[in-house]
Amino acid sequence: MKVVVVGATGHIGTYLVPRLVIAGHEVVAISRGHRGPYLGHRAWDEVERVQVDRDAEDAAGTFGSRVAALRPEAVVDLMCFTVPSARQLLEALTPVGSYLLHCGTIWVHGSALEVPVTEDEARHPFGDYGVQKAAIEDLLLGAVRSGTLRGTVLRPGHIVGPGWAPVNPAGNLNVEVFNRLARGDELALPNLGLETVHHVHADDVAQAFARALSSPGAASGQAFHIVSERALTLRGYAESVAAWFGQSARLSFQPWETWAAAWEPQDAQATWDHIAHSPSMSIAKATASLGYGPRYSSLEAVFESLAWLVDHGQVDVPGRRLRRDIYPLREPYQP
Ligand SMILES: NC(=O)c1ccc[n+]([C@@H]2O[C@H](COP(=O)([O-])OP(=O)(O)OC[C@H]3O[C@@H](n4cnc5c(N)ncnc54)[C@H](OP(=O)(O)O)[C@@H]3O)[C@@H](O)[C@H]2O)c1
Repeated sequence: MKVVVVGATGHIGTYLVPRLVIAGHEVVAISRGHRGPYLGHRAWDEVERVQVDRDAEDAAGTFGSRVAALRPEAVVDLMCFTVPSARQLLEALTPVGSYLLHCGTIWVHGSALEVPVTEDEARHPFGDYGVQKAAIEDLLLGAVRSGTLRGTVLRPGHIVGPGWAPVNPAGNLNVEVFNRLARGDELALPNLGLETVHHVHADDVAQAFARALSSPGAASGQAFHIVSERALTLRGYAESVAAWFGQSARLSFQPWETWAAAWEPQDAQATWDHIAHSPSMSIAKATASLGYGPRYSSLEAVFESLAWLVDHGQVDVPGRRLRRDIYPLREPYQP
């Protein structure tokens, strides 16, 4: 199958593109060419690379027709954030008959009624990102219902992998949180530390896209949560990370306003975004319909990422052995 991947060299594409090549697909990888994938793989030698700035071409009204001109049987759109951008691609692909797979987000659910959240629970998104992503889902799945084209939405959680910092136990992206836990320093958490985060390894997201691509009959017209088996509480996450560093977590708890005042505004805002959503999503539908089975638990994914951060000097563990024996790392990635 000829598959175009838009945003092909990021967290997901790093794992998805080699998977698709190995599965025998002809892959066209679209990006601006500002960066390469996080991990090299010989499969990239067989990929056609197209350098495009989607934002600029969306504005010019040429992005949809450029992708359609490639005559793809399927398009995996990892870089769509607004309804006009989604509509342009959808309308261009309709006459071509391409199967359109959109990368959404669990944020479309807003705050939950019951957990784990299933895909059929009413969505109440808040924040521009979640609201736009929900509207894109409605556009795509509405087009599928009206028989216009085949399309699927996959909603990843917090994407983790070696090469970048995961959402940390304080619910933001400041790697100093990991350093504090590694040193055995006190870490304050907001509220009771019982709000949740729900990670997923980038290769598990890639697995889900590959499965949806090969099963359009089961996947088209549907949205699926793509996360690890279970979410983490901030407190449990902090204690597990401290143990991995050979420490006992020294946690304290503060009301939100007190906690937020002690952090840089961008860190406090990131934490607020994560704990206001406090995701805990069900993967039962993806498992039953797509055969999705995450290789990584949340902690396994985080520890792989942490090992990379330690090895690359971004998290400091002076003179201390990591407790990789408690949470052994998964075998290195080899698709
Ligand atoms: N990150 C998360 O935790 C998370 C969680 C849930 C859902 N998601 C969803 O995942 C998707 C993002 O996937 P990702 O995390 O794999 O992406 P990513 O790591 O941010 O990588 C972005 C990719 O898109 C390319 N790109 C960026 N701007 C571009 C532009 N203007 N035109 C063309 N290419 C462009 C980048 O390469 P160049 O820079 O070289 O162009 C790169 O290949 C989004 O739809 C997001 O909503 C992410």
